[in-house]
Order: sequence, then C-alpha cells, then structure tokens
Amino acid sequence: MSSIQQDWPEPIVRVQSLSDSGLGVIPERYVKPLGDRPSMVSSAADVDIPIINLGELYSDDDRVRANTISQINHACRDWGFFQVVNHGVSPELMDRAREAWREFFHSPMDVKQKHANLPTTYEGYGSRLGVKKGAILDWSDYYFLHYLPCSLKDYNKWPLLPSDCREVIDEYGKQLVILAKKLMKVLSVNLGLSEEYLQNAFGGENIGACLRVNFYPKCPQPDLTLGLSSHSDPGGMTLLLPDNHVPGLQVRKDGNWITVKPARHAFIVNIGDQIQVLSNAIYKSVEHRVIVNPSEERVSLAFFYNPKSDIPIKPAEDLVTREGASLYQPMTFDEYRLFIRLRGPCGKSQVESLKSPR
Ligand code: OGA
Ligand code: NI
Repeated sequence: MSSIQQDWPEPIVRVQSLSDSGLGVIPERYVKPLGDRPSMVSSAADVDIPIINLGELYSDDDRVRANTISQINHACRDWGFFQVVNHGVSPELMDRAREAWREFFHSPMDVKQKHANLPTTYEGYGSRLGVKKGAILDWSDYYFLHYLPCSLKDYNKWPLLPSDCREVIDEYGKQLVILAKKLMKVLSVNLGLSEEYLQNAFGGENIGACLRVNFYPKCPQPDLTLGLSSHSDPGGMTLLLPDNHVPGLQVRKDGNWITVKPARHAFIVNIGDQIQVLSNAIYKSVEHRVIVNPSEERVSLAFFYNPKSDIPIKPAEDLVTREGASLYQPMTFDEYRLFIRLRGPCGKSQVESLKSPR
C-alpha cells in the first residue's frame, strides 16, 4: 500500500464558504451518483435506535442492572447503534463544547485557515477525507484533533478561539474517556469475556482517542448530495454528540435508512470496525451517513475511542473457539486507518476486505 502523500491532490474549497456565497446550484463535485443520493421517502418514521438509561447500571436493584446490561447487548447485536442518557457527562459541558465549536466555525476564515490540515495526519481544519484526485466530495467541513495517546496531544494543533475552547475540549475529552471505559466493560461482559478484556485488547491505558467535529453548512440542493457519505467508523467505539436542533444522522437498518431523533443530552454510541473484529463479528459496525438541509447548518462532535495504534487487533480467542473460526486476519489500527485516509468514506468495504480467506 502506498503511504499518504504530503498534500491534497487539488486546492481545498471550504464548503462553508460555498454555502455562504448563496449559490443556488451546488458544484458538480458534490453531486452524488443517483444510487447514493438521500431518498426523500423516509421509511418507517416511528422506528429509531434504542435509548438506554445508563444510570440504571448503578441501581441497587440487581434486576434493573441486569436489564440495562441486556438492553445494551441487544442494541449492540441488533443495531450497532444506540443512544445513552444519564451517562455521567455533564449536560452543561456537552452544550458548552458544542457551542464552542459552533463559534469556531463562525470565526473569520483567516483564523480557521491557520489550522488548515494536511492528509499526512489530518489534524486541524479540513474539508475532505481521502486524497483521490477528482473524487466526489461531501457537503461538510470538519476539525480533527487527538486527545490520546499523550504523545499525540498537541495544543498547538487545537483552536485558539473561542478563548475557553481548549479548556472545554480538554475536559470534554476526559469525561468521554471515562464514559467509553464504562461502556467497554459492559460490552466485554456481554460478549462473555472478562470485564477488562476489550480495554486490554485495545492496549490498556495506552488507547487512542480523537475528536472529529463536523460542520454541515446549509445546502441549496440537499437531495443531490450528502453531508457525510455512507461509512462505518474505522475505530473502536464512537460517542457522538449530535446537534441539539437539527437531525441529519441516518443509520442503515435492513436496507433502509433510519433518521436518528436525538434525545436531549444523549450521546449516540456506535460500534466501530475494531470491535467488530475483536468480537469476531458478534457485534457489527453499522453503516451510517449524514443528510443536509437547505435552511439549517448542523454541528456534531464525534469522539473516537480507538485501540493503541501499533498492536495487532484480532478476534478474541474465546469467541473464535466458541464460534468456530476466526473471521479476520490481525491488523494494526495504523495499517487499517491508512486505507480510509487514502480512500475516504466507502461503506463497509474496508472491514469486509479484512475477512480471512476461507
Ligand atoms: C462521523 C459521523 C455523524 C454525524 O463523524 O463519523 O458518522 O451525525 N458523524 O455527524
Ligand atoms: Ni461515523
């Protein structure tokens, strides 16, 4: 596999600038092939991903605790996606983090451009994923940064504005790591593994954690494009803080696209490709995408909880013996992530390609 080139294959256009220019027709670069466009017919409006009250994990009543653990198991098996409420992260911090990022995206372009990113690390302010020249692009800008490992955390690559931004982002990361660890324990137990199994398989205290803040500007022709193309998340587990006003995330379920209706102060949790591999596909990472709309912008914070990047990730031995065969060949997250960084979001083709030859 080739390594990442040093610069983007063509000049970067900020989608926010395009949107602000007031054009009525989107450039061809953003027009998706017919089959990928969001269908305006929404399927089963009353169907949604499960909502789980995590506070009940700490109930005095054994049955309530067992029931919550079981709800998480079913959500992981049936959906690969669920919302959590009463998760222990401060609601004020969630709002402050989202609004700090909204302010960042509304700061002057020259301020944002100081953080313009490159495909070598993706850290900073970006407007595309993948480096294929002439690729069809998504209708969004983003900001990407690392929390963990500490060696990758670099405040110089974090925004300076608004003034409390770094402090807020820092605290947000700390609280989300705690929540992710909690969920990793529940997932391990639900898979029939020891409570610490997944955390240890991820590298114990040496895990990775990063944040992608997505900014989806208003779009004059939302039925022709996507804010984020269909993909599964390459990492371990994602904790998404969606916009509090504007829906947009769609999850693929039995061939339909379900639009998630975010609950107040909830996080949307989803299984990434690395947990699919570790669980030998008992849990599956699920395809999702984002639609945009003509009248409202949308901000979301995707926090990715990932394995240490240089250890091989492979199915848990216990699950292989029980289920018959190992479905995946070992691969480090560094190697895995390179595919996505070269090719951009492309459904589940990446984790499928890891399948062991049989
Ligand atoms: C992501 C993602 C969904 C959203 O960043 O990987 O799926 O609602 N985001 O922005
Ligand atoms: Ni995603």
